[in-house]
Amino acid sequence: MGAKYETRGDVAVITLDNPPVNGLGYDTRREFAAGIDRAVADPAVAAIVITGAGKAFSGGADIKEFGSPKAIAEPNLLSLIKLLEDATKPVVAAVHSVCMGGGLELALGAHYRVAAPGTNVALPEVKIGLIPGAGGTQRLPRVLGVETALNMIVSGEPVKSEVLASLPGQKLFDRIIEGDLLSGAVAFAGEMAKKGGALPRVRDMKVTHRDPDAYFGFARNMVKGMAKNFPAPAKCVDAVEGSVRFSKSGKFDDGMALEREIFIGLMTTPECKALRHAFFGERAASKIPDVPEDTPQRKIEKVAVIGAGTMGGGISMNFLNAGIPVTILEMKQDALDRGVATIRKNYEAQVKKGKLKQDKLDARMALLTPTLNYADIAQADMVIEAVFEEMGVKEKVFTTLDEVMKPGAILASNTSTLDVNKIASFTKRPQDVVGTHFFSPANVMKLLEVVRGEKTAKDVLATVMSLAKKIRKTAVVSGVCDGFIGNRMIEQYSRQAGFLLEEGCTPEQVDKAVEKWGMAMGPFRMGDLAGNDIGWAIRKRRYQEKPGMRYSKTADLLCELGRYGQKTGAGWYDYLPGKRDAMPSRLVVEMIEKHRAELGITPRKISDEEIVHRLVYSLVNEAAKILEEGIASKASDIDMVYLTGYGFPLFRGGPMCYADQQGLFNVVHTMKKFAANPHDDASFWQPAPLLAKLAAEGKSFT
Ligand code: NAI
Repeated sequence: MGAKYETRGDVAVITLDNPPVNGLGYDTRREFAAGIDRAVADPAVAAIVITGAGKAFSGGADIKEFGSPKAIAEPNLLSLIKLLEDATKPVVAAVHSVCMGGGLELALGAHYRVAAPGTNVALPEVKIGLIPGAGGTQRLPRVLGVETALNMIVSGEPVKSEVLASLPGQKLFDRIIEGDLLSGAVAFAGEMAKKGGALPRVRDMKVTHRDPDAYFGFARNMVKGMAKNFPAPAKCVDAVEGSVRFSKSGKFDDGMALEREIFIGLMTTPECKALRHAFFGERAASKIPDVPEDTPQRKIEKVAVIGAGTMGGGISMNFLNAGIPVTILEMKQDALDRGVATIRKNYEAQVKKGKLKQDKLDARMALLTPTLNYADIAQADMVIEAVFEEMGVKEKVFTTLDEVMKPGAILASNTSTLDVNKIASFTKRPQDVVGTHFFSPANVMKLLEVVRGEKTAKDVLATVMSLAKKIRKTAVVSGVCDGFIGNRMIEQYSRQAGFLLEEGCTPEQVDKAVEKWGMAMGPFRMGDLAGNDIGWAIRKRRYQEKPGMRYSKTADLLCELGRYGQKTGAGWYDYLPGKRDAMPSRLVVEMIEKHRAELGITPRKISDEEIVHRLVYSLVNEAAKILEEGIASKASDIDMVYLTGYGFPLFRGGPMCYADQQGLFNVVHTMKKFAANPHDDASFWQPAPLLAKLAAEGKSFT
């Protein structure tokens, strides 16, 4: 796997060949460099075309080599670009499909570029907390102008080749080639060889701006406002500004040195580490240690959903959006009508906002078949149950599904708390049963916990993981336990939030502290949104199951007042009718103060730092148990759950990544300090064995 060499007449064609996207890995770079040398040395060759095999020109660095010595081994990307620029024969880059990151930087080293229409052109490095590091910030402004180039570099978003080629004065593409790209490129290369004369190099072009100080000042402010917690976007502005400054003094290489210095500086920032962790975590999540990637999959062409309530409706929309027909089943006609009407209303709201075209709405609704009859779903390839959260109701549904569904159909449950193994036992085909735990609103939230039962078959898991990709979810596998990965951790976080109230905090103070730290929503605002009665029901169960476990009573007192949250117009906060703005509640503060007095606690001022550490470390400690028990197979899976389902700040990389960055020794040390607090719960802060072990060995989770 590397690069292929061939000749077409007097034109050498060097084709990057490293599936899936021709990543510029070590072998590819070596063979590519050898190809250029060979073509330059061969007197029968007049010009060179570089291109990519299969589905891309090149997607840039080979992510399989990321962080390894191979990634920077010579010849590195900078050396390849130099080979192209120094070539004594015209080099034409023929780009198609995907031309991104290092792939685009390589193409910018060629003397000429031709493109197939529809090519996605991008410098996406900012998405992993970096700036382009092989001249992208210096060369792209030279061919596209400062403003277009900076927009692309700061956003990392792809732009189509024909759009870029239509910009006045652009020098990125010499030609857009309709039809056979390679033949067109070879013909163009031949023309350029005949033309003779000096070979144009992007590095020799000038880049100017009519008012650089004003423009870059404005760009910096815009970017800082939008990128708040991420340093890379502002650094993109610095690097592009450098291209203009050094163009004026004719010192291209000084611009390159500036780019390198910024790139290296960013590489070690916590934000860059967090983004890279999330980038790789997302890819790693779809890999299950004992389920090989070539596991055969079942065909999913028709889906059925049982229950047209809050979740059933949202779940159905995911499949309709992906063009997969859904039959939705309810017990009664009015519930069915209500469910279908809600789906339609959601789509209509998108049409109103201009996010969806009417014909798409019609097409999606046409894929939906409502029914009251199980016979209508018998031929579905997969059925997802989203009925009431009661084992008795689930039992009835799964017994019926076992009777009616065709052999080989996947039987999934959206249960959020019940035992998937027990649900599977209601059928004679437990190998076909799996949990698919969607998050609300199910058509919006990215996270899907795939709950693997004791008997779930490997091909069922493989099928559900790849189906998740189709419906654009981040799927993470969880073993069976109470709350699975996400909710099991959040229970400890909520317990700790309760202790903070008892000791002296207000709900608002706790929420503000973690929100300032980066959480999308503090624990009390989250409780009001999700419904405080859900946690109440769980605690009532816990009081029976684990009478020794300590909880603050404040949340029970709140629920006894009927303050369930937004849905009752009052929770930890007050709400105006029809509004969602949380307003601090005098009544709640008095309720907490009264409870505190009854416990004989003198309130103390608790710092934001202590609040954040107590909340986040309560997640980390439970996560360590989850990891040790094998409920999650890797630490990054836990981080993906929190990043995609719980509003954990991306720039912190997830609870495990954050704990690692703090140093596990420090985490354990801080937990010991919390354990000594008489108003907290010493057993709560007993470090999980895995955490204690890693800390003692100087290791980390990720
Ligand atoms: P819901 O009460 O909004 O909807 C349940 C629907 O199921 C109702 O329309 C009901 O008529 C229907 N139903 C009940 N028994 C049925 C049966 N035997 N056959 C056909 N339809 C039946 O409940 P929601 O919130 O949609 O929850 C459904 C499931 O999803 C539960 O297991 C819940 O724990 C889980 N879940 C809920 C989340 C949430 O935020 N609401 C989040 C994640 C999971």
